[in-house]
Amino acid sequence: MNGDFVVPFARRGSIVGAEEIAALAALVDSDAPLSAGGLRERFESRFARHVGSRHALSVTSGTVALELAIELLELRPGDEVVATPQTFQATLQPLLDRDVTVRFCDVDPESLNLDADVLETLITPRTRAILLVHYGGWAADMDRIMAIARRHGVLVLEDSAHALGSTYHGSRPGALADISCFSFHATKNITTLGEGGMITTDRDDWAERLDRRRNNEVDGIYLPADEQEPFLLPWMKFSADVYRQACVGVRRAGTNATLAEAAAGVGLTQLDRLETLVARRRRIAGRLDEVLDRHPHVRRQRPPAGVGHAYHLYTFFAGGGSQARDELVRTLHRQGVEVQLRYFPQHLTPEWRWRGHGPGECPTAERLWFTEHMNLPCHPGLTDTQVDHLVHTLDRALAEVPDRTRTVRGGPAVRTLPA
Ligand SMILES: Cc1ncc(COP(=O)(O)O)c(C=O)c1O
Repeated sequence: MNGDFVVPFARRGSIVGAEEIAALAALVDSDAPLSAGGLRERFESRFARHVGSRHALSVTSGTVALELAIELLELRPGDEVVATPQTFQATLQPLLDRDVTVRFCDVDPESLNLDADVLETLITPRTRAILLVHYGGWAADMDRIMAIARRHGVLVLEDSAHALGSTYHGSRPGALADISCFSFHATKNITTLGEGGMITTDRDDWAERLDRRRNNEVDGIYLPADEQEPFLLPWMKFSADVYRQACVGVRRAGTNATLAEAAAGVGLTQLDRLETLVARRRRIAGRLDEVLDRHPHVRRQRPPAGVGHAYHLYTFFAGGGSQARDELVRTLHRQGVEVQLRYFPQHLTPEWRWRGHGPGECPTAERLWFTEHMNLPCHPGLTDTQVDHLVHTLDRALAEVPDRTRTVRGGPAVRTLPA
């Protein structure tokens, strides 16, 4: 459907070409294993080096990464979790099945990242974890957030699905919190051919548990047994350690979340491309910034020094209230530029409304989404001609759509939220 646009939002967030085909051909032509082999190990160790974490464990998607990572937090009934509302639903979905209280934390009006001032007010003695996203590839205010978390003994999970290629004062998302999750979905900054994910952490115990959990191994509790070992047939040798011990309990079931070798091989070539891919995103973002700077009634993002935005999403804020914003979206669509709004504030979705959340909980996230929020196409697959069309169309549309900030009395119109 978005193939109809001259400048589509993003069917692919990355470039896939001859190198990926060569990596796949080499794997197919070899007799190397197609699962759990050397490519996966190389992909993981290079990824860990890139982000600066001790461990990197690949899995089948970003959603699965989040499910497994949230399991490690060992949330108990009655625990509280502070979470950002401005994210894709996968960040918070694992919490729906848990008897925990979620406190949605409002966002900073420019980065759309969790607001550290608000965070401080939401921490209680029951808070166990903070779930945040580096929205669009702009790393959250991690120095302050981690200082608050450490002061209160709270674990922090960073959803880095947008943030591969971002930097934060000399470090990278993936090494800024206790545990981090990445996505290699087709639209992300790199892809493992459509689906894939990664978990990074410095904790050895968590890495060991994840490794077992993603590979069908039940998380058993064993005790050394007495001397009488069962007779072991040769093909049982691999599990000799397990046979020698008495199993006294099972904590968790296993699953299969293993990233295939083909995906890992493509992931390795994509890591080689990462710098170029992000540089292209930044160049397109720079051109969009220039346009927005010519139109004072709109606001653009201005990351502070030391924060390297990866522009997984290019976000800006239209002035003049919801009508003007919606008119701008329609004008751009008519001119072939696809606009999307990412994301509907999570606390307003049916699943969280059902759990007692609703309008008024995060006023900034709500106001921006309903009246100003815009995401423009910004991905390396765009040709120079498409980028020119995008830039000129945006410039014209912003000049055409009147600045309503001066005509709406009492400030921007705010659309009534559903009751
Ligand atoms: C912020 C965020 N978290 C998690 C995910 C889930 O990743 P995946 O699609 O790989 O399951 C996505 C996107 O798809 C995302 O944008």
